[in-house]
Amino acid sequence: MVKKNTCIFISGKGSNLKNLIKRSRDYNFPIKIKLVVSDNKEALGLNYAKKNSIPFLIVNTKSSNYENIILQNLKKYNISFICLAGYMRIISKNFLIKYRKKIINIHPSLLPKFKGLNTFSRILKNKEKKTGCTVHFVNEKLDGGAIIYRKSFFINREDDEQILKIKTQRLEYLAFPEAIIKIFRNN
Ligand code: GAR
Repeated sequence: MVKKNTCIFISGKGSNLKNLIKRSRDYNFPIKIKLVVSDNKEALGLNYAKKNSIPFLIVNTKSSNYENIILQNLKKYNISFICLAGYMRIISKNFLIKYRKKIINIHPSLLPKFKGLNTFSRILKNKEKKTGCTVHFVNEKLDGGAIIYRKSFFINREDDEQILKIKTQRLEYLAFPEAIIKIFRNN
């Protein structure tokens, strides 16, 4: 199988990156991770790129042309697919036009519910019975692109924010690879 050259964008811990690196070693998993981009030089997830000898790029988002620098590198590594794995930054319209339908994101709620930040506290405050994670295409609207895959669980009375996060992330490690397989199954 010809694997898609993929770039993973991160901002922090990188546990989804770690999981995708592991999954992408399967010969029939549709992506090959060629580059990691981080907007945070302290991101722990960069260690997974280093350990696995994956080239990485740290961008300074204070500079006005940081997205152009990313775009140049995507070209250099012949990237045709992008996964946002905890990348906490909005992608500009200009960038999106160049990678339309080629960027996916994972979000820690059952979209369209609880778009944006602080999802777990809002979920608890709203007394939701269920929550989970969503993988979706990225478009101009915050957490608003077409949904590819969701996974859910029932919330227990004693679940606090920390527990919700752990349970949600456990599902993310299944949902992100499943979504990627679903996208490329018929390609
Ligand atoms: C993930 O739980 C992901 O759903 C969330 O950030 C976490 C990153 O964890 N993304 C968002 O909140 C995007 N709005 P990781 O760095 O360990 O993969």
